[in-house]
Amino acid sequence: MRMRHKKHEQERLLACSPVLIRSEEKERLLADPQSFFPAPAPLHLEIGCGKGQFACKMASAHPECNFIAMERVSNVLCNAAENGMTRLNGHNPDNLRFMTANATDLCELLPPSSVERIYLNFSDPWPKAKHERRRLTAAPFLSLYRAIVVPGGLLQFKTDNEGLFDFSLSQFESMGLPLLFLTRDLHRCPSDSPFVTGNQTTEYEDKFTAAGMPIHMAVVRLKDEVSHGE
Ligand SMILES: C[S@@+](CC[C@H](N)C(=O)[O-])C[C@H]1O[C@@H](n2cnc3c(N)ncnc32)[C@H](O)[C@@H]1O
Repeated sequence: MRMRHKKHEQERLLACSPVLIRSEEKERLLADPQSFFPAPAPLHLEIGCGKGQFACKMASAHPECNFIAMERVSNVLCNAAENGMTRLNGHNPDNLRFMTANATDLCELLPPSSVERIYLNFSDPWPKAKHERRRLTAAPFLSLYRAIVVPGGLLQFKTDNEGLFDFSLSQFESMGLPLLFLTRDLHRCPSDSPFVTGNQTTEYEDKFTAAGMPIHMAVVRLKDEVSHGE
């Protein structure tokens, strides 16, 4: 049964080839991420894309950028890639690629100074203190993000989880990352900041917002405009 499920997943992924970066293509990705797109453009990366709603909406709203949506769980990524194919077949710009990958491997997947912006949306909260290091905003992950972003590169983080948000702010501070934007209620925030007006929602965000829960957002600069040789 399990084998049949896997085979079915492989067939589904094959049908998504135009929007996929396959695990066999990791070396090419590390050498030249822009080679996966029709034209080079500022590269944005979503980590933990789930079913891909946010990445699809962002890629359509920003044809001037290229996007990679990364997800650790392969059958979830399969759903995201299928949504990406539907989007592509709807004559949207060909600027979005999907890959199954774990954020822990980022530095083996993307070259230094290759990503303009990283998005973390409703990352797993890992509430137990003993699992703190698994949170995608824990300092060791922030160091990985710093290694792959361009000078001036940003991290945009959204969550419904206040505990994870407070933890994340403390990690940003401990790493000395300047906070560019913060709200604890994104959908009732009167700001005309582009982080608010340009917000695209995720599947989880729609669900939590419909349940009346406030959405927290923070944006930090991961690396100074002037590189210090990192
Ligand atoms: C709670 S879901 C949120 C999905 C989507 N971002 C949304 O907002 O609707 C978190 C997603 O992150 C993925 N994820 C968790 N840890 C990851 C990691 N280390 N690398 C890549 N993806 C990860 C999970 O598999 C899951 O699909």
